[in-house]
Amino acid sequence: MVRLIYTSTITDKFEVSDIARILKIAREKNKAIDVTGLLSFNRRFFLQCLEGERDQVNQIYHKIATDPRHKIPVIIDYQEITHREFDVWSMGYLQDVESLRELFYKHTKSINFDPYKMNGDTAKALLIDIRDEIKKAEQA
Ligand SMILES: Cc1cc2nc3c(=O)[nH]c(=O)nc-3n(C[C@H](O)[C@H](O)[C@H](O)COP(=O)(O)O)c2cc1C
Repeated sequence: MVRLIYTSTITDKFEVSDIARILKIAREKNKAIDVTGLLSFNRRFFLQCLEGERDQVNQIYHKIATDPRHKIPVIIDYQEITHREFDVWSMGYLQDVESLRELFYKHTKSINFDPYKMNGDTAKALLIDIRDEIKKAEQA
C-alpha cells in the first residue's frame, strides 16, 4: 500500500458548494476501490491524503489532478505504508473552523497557511491532527 499527500489551489471554477459534491463522489468512488483518506480545505488550498493499493491511488490521483476546480497540484509526500492512518473514512472533511486554523498554525507557525511550504512529515502530522479533531467532533 502507499500513502500520497498532495496540495492544490482552488480555481475560479470552484464554488464552496462544490465541496459537498466532491465529498459525495469521493466517498462513493474511493470506497469502491478501497482507497481511504482525508480532504482538508481552507478557502484557498486543498490538502488531501489518499491511501490504498499503489495502482488505485495513482489512478485516482491522476484523475483528481486534472479536475478544473483546482490547479497547481503538488505531491508533498508519497510513501510505501504497512497500515493506514485514515482507515475510518473513505473521505473525511473538517470545515474551516477555529480549531482547524489553530492546527494550521501549530504545524506551520504562520497565520498565512501555505501548504506548498510544508514537507511530508509536517503535512502528515497536520492531517493526523485533523483526523483526531474530526473524531472528537463526531463523538461530541
Ligand atoms: C480537491 C478535489 C479532491 C477530489 N478527491 C476525489 C477523491 O478522493 N476521489 C474521487 O473519486 N474523486 C475526487 N475528486 C473528483 C474527481 O476529480 C472527479 O471529478 C470524480 O472522480 C468524477 O470522475 P468521473 O468524471 O470519472 O466520473 C476530487 C476533486 C477535487 C477538486
